Amino acid sequence: MVNMKFLLNLFKMPGSAPVSCLGPWPKDVGIIAIEVYFPSQFVDQAELEQFDGVPAGKYTVGLGQARMGFCSDREDINSLCLTVVQRLMERNGLSYDSVGRLEVGTETIIDKSKSVKTVIMQLFEESGNTDVEGIDTTNACYGGTAALFNAVNWVESSSWDGRYALVVAGDIAVYATGSARPTGGAGAVAMLVGPNAPLAFERGLRGTHMQHAYDFYKPDLVSEYPVVDGKLSIQCYLSALDRCYSVYRNKIHAQWQREGSDKLFSLDDFGYLVFHSPYCKLVQKSLARLMLNDFLSHPNPNTETGPFTGLDPFRDVCPEDTYFDRDVEKAFMKASADLFEKKTKCSLLISNQNGNMYTPSVYGCLASLIAQQVPSQIAGQRIGVFSYGSGFAATLYSLRVTQDHTPGSVLDKLVSSLSDLKVRLDSRKKISPAVFSENMKLREETHHLASYVPQGAVEDLFPGTWYMTRVDDKHRREYARRPLDNDLSAEQELVHSSTATEHIPSPAKKMPRIPAAPAGAEAAISN
Ligand code: ACO
Repeated sequence: MVNMKFLLNLFKMPGSAPVSCLGPWPKDVGIIAIEVYFPSQFVDQAELEQFDGVPAGKYTVGLGQARMGFCSDREDINSLCLTVVQRLMERNGLSYDSVGRLEVGTETIIDKSKSVKTVIMQLFEESGNTDVEGIDTTNACYGGTAALFNAVNWVESSSWDGRYALVVAGDIAVYATGSARPTGGAGAVAMLVGPNAPLAFERGLRGTHMQHAYDFYKPDLVSEYPVVDGKLSIQCYLSALDRCYSVYRNKIHAQWQREGSDKLFSLDDFGYLVFHSPYCKLVQKSLARLMLNDFLSHPNPNTETGPFTGLDPFRDVCPEDTYFDRDVEKAFMKASADLFEKKTKCSLLISNQNGNMYTPSVYGCLASLIAQQVPSQIAGQRIGVFSYGSGFAATLYSLRVTQDHTPGSVLDKLVSSLSDLKVRLDSRKKISPAVFSENMKLREETHHLASYVPQGAVEDLFPGTWYMTRVDDKHRREYARRPLDNDLSAEQELVHSSTATEHIPSPAKKMPRIPAAPAGAEAAISN
């Protein structure tokens, strides 16, 4: 039977056009819908300071972190991505055959060959759609951005067949005990990509910087933990930001010159700015850093009045000497304080409450920003997006928010679909640092085991969360999904199939694939 609700939603959503409707170059390609998943439990950073025996304020004030989400042994990268993809499909009333490309960005590697993308394909089985391009992309926290670029490029290419692309960024960010541990986190973000998007990529405006460094890497494939040189990673991050901003500005200047303008680009030309957020304080310092760039590249800055007031002593500093220069940092943090309040602070909601999610971090910031705006306020604005992945790879690009903010518009739907973020964050369960620490120990000992049955409580997971039920003797992982409405008879299962013809999921326990709730309606998942 034709699902009328699905058809209606399909017509309301942009993209997914029949091939016959395709023009020469689709317009306003970008992000149509965003879904965020984070674990249902967190550890409080003030309690963690006490537990770790560090001075009060080091994690909460020094790093700017309030809470850190973490996963029990019930969740892995596959389950995080299954959860966020299904949530996006359900809440937007999308059919799995409307997706022609699925890309995953992650650095949480549990298999050196099999991609997370192929695991997610289990959700597509019932639709019969196997014509789905894309696989996994990895380079620390940058993989999600590379995946997003692949998706946007596909929609703008001759390969596009008129369907949506779906991008998933997911990671479990965990560190060994020590100074890096409070900068962990976990979660996943799914993004629907297509034309006529409320957040459209600005053409030709990507400033990229890639370079070799051992600042953060994961050479031990048996450990979930990275090897980190914390200070070097901060220096690499800030130097990449300088370079990307410079390249971005050169490109926009060239565009403006072609249009006959010799205007100088500055932070004022961004309505909002979001950053990859390892911890919130680094983001605040990054905005200050961009102001330093504006100041140093200005031919004749006014230091008597306006934003550069009192910055004269820093006119001749060499940027490469200032990554850890306290005076420069303090002066430009002060000078950019208003800009931070207006353009960036509200993007840090998930980062402050859930921590660094690695690949989804910057997209969690984008979601946090959108969630806290009224559509008319954000309409027409340029959003700068800075993505950084250690090793290192970084890009600064910009999204243009659509002008149409009328009720029922794609922008209105996007904003309202994210409006439950704060409520969901607040509904999580607080776990003591001692139990968190035991949990980390358990993950250390068991995350790579075969013939393993996870121990973590299933009841504590948010409704609609996929979780691991067992790992068999051949390392094949099996999953089940917590029902959306606590009706345990509706539990959905995914088990490994040894032949392609075995039926997955189990028909007796399957969930309805496309529930009634469209984007923005909160009924489908009530965390
Ligand atoms: N009250 C208030 N602030 C305090 C207190 C206190 N009691 N104690 C310390 N602080 C401040 C410090 O002054 C410092 O602030 P500053 O950076 O403005 O000087 C801040 O708290 C952190 O203290 P440090 O001593 O610098 O922290 P430490 O060196 O122990 O660790 C680090 C910080 C390097 C970020 C570590 O957590 C880490 O290695 N994290 C992982 C790597 C990382 O996130 N890198 C960023 C980019 S790469 C990526 O995304 C993974």
